[in-house]
Amino acid sequence: MIEEKELHYFPVKIMEYTDPGWSPEWVEEFTAWARGFPAQQSNIPEGVITSRTDMHKQDAPCVQRVVKFFNECLEQYKERFELNCEQLELTLSWFNHAPSMSGWGHPLHRHPMSYVSSVYYITEGAPTIFGDPCTPRTSDTLDVWQDTLMKSDGWNLGINEMYQSNPGKLILFPSWLHHFSGRQLQDIDRWTLSFNALPTGKVNVGPNGLPQVNLKLL
Ligand SMILES: [Fe+2]
Repeated sequence: MIEEKELHYFPVKIMEYTDPGWSPEWVEEFTAWARGFPAQQSNIPEGVITSRTDMHKQDAPCVQRVVKFFNECLEQYKERFELNCEQLELTLSWFNHAPSMSGWGHPLHRHPMSYVSSVYYITEGAPTIFGDPCTPRTSDTLDVWQDTLMKSDGWNLGINEMYQSNPGKLILFPSWLHHFSGRQLQDIDRWTLSFNALPTGKVNVGPNGLPQVNLKLL
């Protein structure tokens, strides 16, 4: 066989983090707290119950425990990609609840006014599916099937990638990346958390020592 090499020039980088503090006891404590926090159906007709978006500002220990984990992951993400900013800070955070057998899911969407977004899996349940952002590839007319190469955990759609709900895992992805969640048809309540984050402080400091922007969240 002739020597060959595959070059990945424009990969979408999605990071996965494992929460060492996830436990069935914490899930019970958090979901009990969440049932008392303002939330309503959104994305009608899909209907997933979505909470108010200032969840990270709540004092409950079960919330602050996981928010601390989120902040540690954001710091690690900033260091890994050597982002020229002082911090990645939470702007919004909320929980999502798709009751057992409800058939509810999130429609295709992305997160405006955010740099990096997330899904944190509290329970098992329907997967998260990402759409291929390379639109010339997904919209062209020369769509040649790649047989087994296109099989993504059985979905076999080719233009999507699937991340299976995995309790205690957090994924961080660029906020422009379109995604949706599958409909909850299993006999289990699906609970996830989401947040948005922006770079703050001095961002993109140039050779003259001046940043392109100096952002402070209120
Ligand atoms: Fe989302």
